[in-house]
Amino acid sequence: MEFTQIRDKYISFFESKGHKQIPSAPVVPENDPSVLFNTAGMQPLVPYLMGQPHPYGTRLCDYQKCMRTNDLDEVGDVTHHTFFEMLGNWSLGDYFKNESISWSFELLTKVFNIPVERLAVTVFKGNDIVSADSESAEIWKRLGIPEKRIKYLGEDDNWWPNMELTGPCGPDTEIFYFRSNDEIPEEFDTEDERWVEIWNNVFMQYNHNEDGTFTELPKKNVDTGMGLERITAVLEGVTDNYASSIWKDVIEKIEQISNLKYNGNEKAMRIIADHIRSAVFISADPAGIKPSNTDQGYILRRLIRRAIRYAKKLNIDINSNWEEEIAKVIMSKYENYYSEIKENKDIVLEVLRTEKTKFNRTLENGLKEFEKIASKIQNGKMDKDNAFRLYDTFGFPIELTVELASEMGIKVDEEGFKEKFKAHQEISRAGAKEKFKGGLAATGETETQYHTATHLLNAALKVIVSKDVHQRGSNITAERMRFDFSCNHKLTDEEKQKTEELVNKWIDAAYPVTKTEMKKEDAIASGAECMFIERYPDVVTVYKIGDVSAELCGGPHVENTSKIPHIKIKKEEAVSAGVRRIKAEFVK
Ligand code: SER
Repeated sequence: MEFTQIRDKYISFFESKGHKQIPSAPVVPENDPSVLFNTAGMQPLVPYLMGQPHPYGTRLCDYQKCMRTNDLDEVGDVTHHTFFEMLGNWSLGDYFKNESISWSFELLTKVFNIPVERLAVTVFKGNDIVSADSESAEIWKRLGIPEKRIKYLGEDDNWWPNMELTGPCGPDTEIFYFRSNDEIPEEFDTEDERWVEIWNNVFMQYNHNEDGTFTELPKKNVDTGMGLERITAVLEGVTDNYASSIWKDVIEKIEQISNLKYNGNEKAMRIIADHIRSAVFISADPAGIKPSNTDQGYILRRLIRRAIRYAKKLNIDINSNWEEEIAKVIMSKYENYYSEIKENKDIVLEVLRTEKTKFNRTLENGLKEFEKIASKIQNGKMDKDNAFRLYDTFGFPIELTVELASEMGIKVDEEGFKEKFKAHQEISRAGAKEKFKGGLAATGETETQYHTATHLLNAALKVIVSKDVHQRGSNITAERMRFDFSCNHKLTDEEKQKTEELVNKWIDAAYPVTKTEMKKEDAIASGAECMFIERYPDVVTVYKIGDVSAELCGGPHVENTSKIPHIKIKKEEAVSAGVRRIKAEFVK
């Protein structure tokens, strides 16, 4: 079954079960500065999974553009991709385990015609917080999955996303397919790699709060996700994803351009195919991302540059329009499903061409320089200065230097490089993790002002609303602050107004902001506010604002409240049971 048919059949199956198809959200999230890309189908749906009504109703399905770049360097084997499409269906407080599992089973066995003998499943075995999911196991048994093909696993396998991340989450049941011509063993063994996971049904019934507690969501949801690349390979009977209908003609194009066979050149061809496809989707996205040294632009640059390097390995004439030919084959496969691909074709080609020209100019010189540096290395280590020079003067992303060096058995001082990089004030935010630090996306002047303002807001809520208000999270961008706090009721207009007035009064009072280091116990004893006591080291920094606020915090802060503009509360809403969120902006 061709991948377009699989996608179509998936959607029409769920439409026949009362689902509304929703369009794929952009691959660059619109309102979430905390991540670079959408990494799962459910990500754009988080507000609805948390209880906000969805305009399309309570049963949704889609195919969603996703990007996962943390294992970018794994691309080149038979299964890894940076970009992929995720088929998904959701119940927003509508159906639950029974329908979800029964429909997955029906689609797989009746529409995709997978024999039941090739299926096996895992369910959650329970932990201190949630008991074992025997309900799902019973449903599977009733449908005809034998007991020996049902395995109970712990939170590392059957909890989504994981126990550490905050937000909506829950136990899941994963569906596996036996992908081999060998005789199928009676007993399902999750360690046996002939069993591949094809679908994940998450029963999202909890919110993991910032304070570490789990609360039941107002409504129980279902979130399922099936990677189109994986299911296509399975249904087409190939073990190499790149041999499926998704990639076949792309690989053929690369064979034709390079005059080489896929056989023997798999790694390079897969990397080129994968990276150009991702570059196509990122640059066609409405966000208008261009290659750069930060954020999504940096990933885009890395992808294009890595594809070029592998094209060179295949002796492709880099100055020809090879990348355009490959991109055109890719775009022709997606343009009927994603209008932005059709509309932004010229932009995509322009992005690829410009970056190629830029990189070509520096690559030749850079490689020569790299070889010169490498030939002088005696102890198997490249120091930070050389790594930085390759970046700064020759435009080599550090990952490229590391990759080239590792091919020669050389280790690069990446830590040292990073320090130098920061010192040059070009903080690469390639890792989404960086962005979570202290809830701050970046730490420019405005973000710093907002950060101090959250301390004032926290203190003001305690005075106006209740002394039991505590911070549950915060998220800051240059445009606004978001502050989550514990509270069991919707704030009244009067409470909101008074809170805002008090914060602004404190701003006008020009209180000094002072920083003191103290022992954690002393800080707590002094009554300083603290969100995650266990996450702080023994010696902590306490920021005091006049005598209105004292909080354990890593900073940064303004040195006087007079440096902060007045705030305006724009919104107050529920995040989960007992947690409210305020969005506020500076009055310009
Ligand atoms: N969110 C789950 C996943 O990404 C199911 O869609 O696997």
